Amino acid sequence: MGRKQTTYVCAECGATFYRWSGRCPNCQQWDTLQESRPAVSSRDQGRAVATPSVKLTEIEVDYNARIPVNMPEFDRVLGGGVLPGSTILLAGDPGIGKSTILLQVLGKVAARGVECLYVSCEESLGQVKMRAGRIGLEESALSVSVENAVENILAILAADRPQVAVVDSIQRVVTRGVDSPAGSLRQVSMCATALTEAAKEAGCALFLVGHVTKQGMMAGPRALEHLVDTVLYFDSEKFQSLRILRAVKNRFGAINEIGVFEMTGQGLREVLNPSELFLAERDPAASGSVVTSTMEGSRALLVEIQALVGPGAYSTPERKVTGVDYRRFSMMMSVLERQAGIELGRSDAFVNVAGGVRVYEPAADLPLVLALASSFRNQPFLGGAVAIGEVGLGGEVRAVSRIEDRLNEAARLGFERAVVPAGNAKAAARCISQVHPVRNLLQATKLLGAASM
Ligand code: TYD
Ligand code: MG
Repeated sequence: MGRKQTTYVCAECGATFYRWSGRCPNCQQWDTLQESRPAVSSRDQGRAVATPSVKLTEIEVDYNARIPVNMPEFDRVLGGGVLPGSTILLAGDPGIGKSTILLQVLGKVAARGVECLYVSCEESLGQVKMRAGRIGLEESALSVSVENAVENILAILAADRPQVAVVDSIQRVVTRGVDSPAGSLRQVSMCATALTEAAKEAGCALFLVGHVTKQGMMAGPRALEHLVDTVLYFDSEKFQSLRILRAVKNRFGAINEIGVFEMTGQGLREVLNPSELFLAERDPAASGSVVTSTMEGSRALLVEIQALVGPGAYSTPERKVTGVDYRRFSMMMSVLERQAGIELGRSDAFVNVAGGVRVYEPAADLPLVLALASSFRNQPFLGGAVAIGEVGLGGEVRAVSRIEDRLNEAARLGFERAVVPAGNAKAAARCISQVHPVRNLLQATKLLGAASM
């Protein structure tokens, strides 16, 4: 012992190596390995006094401690509000609206008399005030500080004792103890650790903002995901005003909930009826378009799956999908060929889910297959119908969970018919007026020709 081994940590994925190399052997990114020395020497280990253990029955927890933001789309994703003492990382592309949404969140909470602090590491007080003006918060009681030295932020947290705080962004926070630049893995992890610990101790709910680059995560946030309690991603489809908030990790709530927002001239507006918005520009008579009802956490959402299948221009057909799982898509292409006799081998195929939603559940198999077949044959799918069902390798259509929730949402939006697995037919009939039960792919694709039934 005693010899300090230098290690190299990848800034992208956080993997550790004993030897430097130009490319990370784990995530294959170039030029991301950075030198890192052990923070604790072997001499220090074992010196700390152990905290005595306690009986589980003696631990007191306040289950009502959550502070609701009173923005239903935000609260749902968090699992009912912010938990005092927890740290939440909000990650997203620059310009997506992270600063805006968190300022709105603080404004809402501060309006109820909760002590709130916004630490801006990127913008001046004037810029923060201007943004607050745009979203109608000039008169808000929240405190603002412009600071990027972690020691100073800790001092402000200790002096102001806010119940909810935002540090925007963690990549700009630095500690004097480390001489690597802001945003490097060491800086980001040291600062985030210090802030997280301070917040936990003070019972303050802490939001850390993390920017993401085009290549994925920037230095830090990937490693940060282990450090924090909750990781939220703020996403959008390019050039659209729609924003989707999703939790990818949540120690205190579900992870499949999503919140939908729209960026307006006055900040982010909650979209309480997202299905309507996702279907707004749909042309029901177009071929290659099928609507499905998908479960996003506790809520059913109606989305449109679009497919475009055409003769390939090159010897290798081109295939691209957004919003659906590529492996599932490949499987469905093979199943269509084998079980429904639709020859797709040499065709180009593109799939898109309108509105930037991701539909990764097996219940989206049937609408995906029908959209592909509809585009291939240039026959629109049944007007005013939704399709739901899992498709097996043998072409069989399997029952899915929560059919009532899915179809009630469809009926609420004016859909009158549904193509569903035969196993779900009975329950489906209680929710929607016309049910077309299907047992296999062949029966389902036959519906394509029949424009009205
Ligand atoms: P911002 O919250 O600064 O993004 P981030 O913190 O994720 O980098 O949002 C930036 C974009 O949002 C910017 O292009 C301007 C736009 N915006 C609006 O459209 N309306 C508004 O009310 C506000 C405050 C910003
Ligand atoms: Mg910002």
